[in-house]
Amino acid sequence: MSLPLLLTKRLTVSPPKTAAAILSYAAHAAPDDWLRLHGAIFLSGADRWTTARFQREITARDWFSPQQMWWAIQPSRPQPIGVVTLEVAGEQGRIHWLMVDAAARRQGVASALLGTLEQAAWDAGVRQLTAETLSSWTPAVAFYRRHGYETA
Ligand SMILES: CC(C)(COP(=O)(O)OP(=O)(O)OC[C@H]1O[C@@H](n2cnc3c(N)ncnc32)[C@H](O)[C@@H]1OP(=O)(O)O)[C@@H](O)C(=O)NCCC(=O)NCCS
Repeated sequence: MSLPLLLTKRLTVSPPKTAAAILSYAAHAAPDDWLRLHGAIFLSGADRWTTARFQREITARDWFSPQQMWWAIQPSRPQPIGVVTLEVAGEQGRIHWLMVDAAARRQGVASALLGTLEQAAWDAGVRQLTAETLSSWTPAVAFYRRHGYETA
């Protein structure tokens, strides 16, 4: 059985800076790149989000900021290989929509994205970060645990 799982981490020191190639959505506002990743990883076929759906979803989230969504870029590839989004609510932060292209996994891409997100969260005054996942998504659970996130 797959259950929703909240994983949380307190930020107590400024996270180390990451050297990976990361770009904000503000610098690369490309819904199609986001939809390509989302369609390949989460919802494909008839359930696939359209550009209009994506715009509706981000507009509906009053916390969404183009400065707080990040792409991972690989110079050899034309399209981003990963993405993550941060919600800031005072000292609380929430991690949304973490996705890495299947062909680029286990190479530290999500770790680089998370490092950028944690740094930005810290700078914004966030001191606790939470990610929601499903207990059956073992790569995501292993990933967050590897980065110090624990069951809330
Ligand atoms: C979860 C996900 C984002 C990880 O991306 P990634 O770029 O492969 O992660 P990293 O390479 O930075 O992994 C860092 C560490 O996390 C752990 N980890 C990541 N994927 C893992 C897996 N499949 N199995 C076990 N541990 C894993 C490992 O400790 C890994 O370090 P290592 O490779 O040195 O052993 C990716 O698998 C993905 O996009 N999954 C589908 C979407 C998803 O589940 N998103 C999260 C929604 S809550």
